Amino acid sequence: MKSLKWEKGILLLLDQTLLPNKIDYIYCQDYMTVAEAIRRLQVRGAPAIGAAAAFGIVLGAKAAAISAANVIEFRDKVLVVADTLQQTRPTAVNLFWAIKRMLGILDKFEDGSDIGKMIARLEQEAVIIAQEDEQVNRKISKNGALLFTKPVSILTHCNAGALATVALGTALGVIRETHSQGNVLRVYADETRPLLQGARLTAWELMQEKIPVTLITDNMAGWVMKKGLVQAVIVGADRIALNGDVANKIGTYSVAVLAKEHNIPFYVAAPLSTFDITINSGDSIPIEERDRSEVLQYAGINTAPEGVTVFNPAFDVTPSNLVTAIITEAGVFQAPYDVKIRQIFQLKG
Ligand code: MRU
Repeated sequence: MKSLKWEKGILLLLDQTLLPNKIDYIYCQDYMTVAEAIRRLQVRGAPAIGAAAAFGIVLGAKAAAISAANVIEFRDKVLVVADTLQQTRPTAVNLFWAIKRMLGILDKFEDGSDIGKMIARLEQEAVIIAQEDEQVNRKISKNGALLFTKPVSILTHCNAGALATVALGTALGVIRETHSQGNVLRVYADETRPLLQGARLTAWELMQEKIPVTLITDNMAGWVMKKGLVQAVIVGADRIALNGDVANKIGTYSVAVLAKEHNIPFYVAAPLSTFDITINSGDSIPIEERDRSEVLQYAGINTAPEGVTVFNPAFDVTPSNLVTAIITEAGVFQAPYDVKIRQIFQLKG
């Protein structure tokens, strides 16, 4: 099941809010529909958001071309499109990474350029971003599987699978590859409150692939570890700072603390596009806070008293000292992360 498809100039987004009960694609013919789909988590997961936004830029650019008198006006209008898409979700850096890459394409054209050619090049770049994501995830999967030389059970949190990316997934990509090599006994999937990405998406994805999966509520993870039911944790990431601090779905930090207490390796699988080399530590990562209704209700039914105060951060930051290794397409990084990350991104210092 593809999270997104680009077909004849239309972006099809699998509506993940309906899973696992219904498989339905949203047909995005304008960038506002894409922005709304990202905001509402109809498309979600850092790499998938990035790819969707890239196609959103293409749709916005096509509309901008209709009313723009020249290249300067066209560029200004595309900047408005980019700004709208950037306002949708603040934490996953892939969104900003993909938009920056798309705007970089526009910058390469002179003011007297043919706008039609600029749009064609934007479309080509969005397609490349999507294709690269699949290739990168294949490498992450292979690199991660090397960590497992005998069969293990693995716990994961949220959904870092094919649904969260263009294909294969990051954490679930590693799990898929490790399973194909005969080294996955079972996956324990945290349900991932409040929006249940683990229950609705990860359990569904793994069942489709016939990978043994046991669903647990988030508060069961510690006991599952204590009972020796898992030998590793693998999660995805939304943004990784220079020092290796990792922002990921709320609850990831708790899992990392539990893993440390139980001497279980805690792995993060993420593409290089998830690294934010402009920030030194996780303290600078903006954490999205979402609507209180997500905590107060499920599927429109109240699960808490009306009027209660709610705190609803969508992500948390796991400090790098709790991270055993970061699995990327460029290899498996271990502490000290800043040294490795600076080397990979060719940064000084
Ligand atoms: O709020 P979501 O569902 O977009 O959060 C997704 C996650 O936290 C994923 O773990 C992360 O984006 C990595 S996806 C490969």
